[in-house]
Amino acid sequence: MPSQAATAIPYVPAAPESAPRLVTPEAGTPLPSPVPLMELSSGFWAFKTLAAAHELGLFALLSGGRSTTIDELAQALRIHPRPAEMILTGCASLGLLRSERGRYRNAEISEAYLVPGKPHYFGGWIAMADKRLYAGWGRLAEALRTNRPTTWNPDEQSSLFDGEDPKMLALFWEAMHSLSTMTARALGAAYDFRRYRRLLDIGGGSGAFDIELCRQYPALRAAVFDLPHVAEIAGRNIAQAGLSERIEGIAGSFFGDFPKGYDLHLFSMIMHDWDIDKNKALLRRSYETLLPGGAVAISELLVNDGKTGPAPAALMSLNMLIETEGRNYTAAEYSAWLIEAGFRDIETVAFDAPGANGAVIGHKR
Ligand SMILES: C[S@@+](CC[C@H](N)C(=O)[O-])C[C@H]1O[C@@H](n2cnc3c(N)ncnc32)[C@H](O)[C@@H]1O
Repeated sequence: MPSQAATAIPYVPAAPESAPRLVTPEAGTPLPSPVPLMELSSGFWAFKTLAAAHELGLFALLSGGRSTTIDELAQALRIHPRPAEMILTGCASLGLLRSERGRYRNAEISEAYLVPGKPHYFGGWIAMADKRLYAGWGRLAEALRTNRPTTWNPDEQSSLFDGEDPKMLALFWEAMHSLSTMTARALGAAYDFRRYRRLLDIGGGSGAFDIELCRQYPALRAAVFDLPHVAEIAGRNIAQAGLSERIEGIAGSFFGDFPKGYDLHLFSMIMHDWDIDKNKALLRRSYETLLPGGAVAISELLVNDGKTGPAPAALMSLNMLIETEGRNYTAAEYSAWLIEAGFRDIETVAFDAPGANGAVIGHKR
């Protein structure tokens, strides 16, 4: 049997208009193909196949070039050969595994991102999507009707970030770190930050942006400004990256005063958590405290100005409905708020990353 190349996994099916049209026996105008609807409505099958294979440790089992047959997998995972066959076939069909002569191995994408302990491990995000977001999305229609989140109870918490469940928090932070490390790398490559010396990463979370930007820009020093329990997590990641000399953690709330003395402010995946008034207030405070000549960067999955997509941003926006009071905004919206706050020379840079497709940057003269 020839080797089967793993193909890319589509994020969403092709636009319905591009599918071939069907001519029906009733004649008249040909109908659009229903295939895109089938693909859309079974999108969660693909996701759950990935999540279950990851949870069972399939990609870890096959790491380092190892391979398995159906029977060997059944034995290794102590499962029946029937589901062993199904999960191997399912993962191969999605491009997560390659198969040759009845033996399955990790495709390049699985080896790079789905093996725990590897530097670019993305499993935290998959586990969080599976264990936290999936249930919340199951109640999306309710969230649309009520304009309330579904992953936590707004009568008991003031925001997603008040969550006390340590298991969920660990999952959330592992997820954010894997997502943001790759996004930070893309931002650092898309924009030239060489003229800046001191970065304040507002709501900096796990410190992923600070670690990556300090690696890319040797003259940069940074501070992760976040809630106390999060600053602690960032501290651990920074120490592990060997950057404690250049990156510090500052515990506090960004709804209070901002630390002063910085020439670069970063808001990454912050503004999509909050409503317009809170975001405008954050940008006003940023302008007031930033050093003259400094800049603020807003890194997000930006919705296009016509509000028709792109799908990753539009769907992240719905994710914000089930998780927060915010939504994903457009570059035009951010630009208008930046100008209102006092910023000038607004620039939008586009890049391709899991957690952002661009950044809107404003300058303080
Ligand atoms: C979606 S995460 C983004 C984290 C990070 N910027 C990134 O892109 O990886 C939102 C962050 O906002 C932080 N946050 C929420 N409310 C905050 C507050 N009042 N003050 C400071 N940080 C806050 C959270 O703890 C979390 O780290």
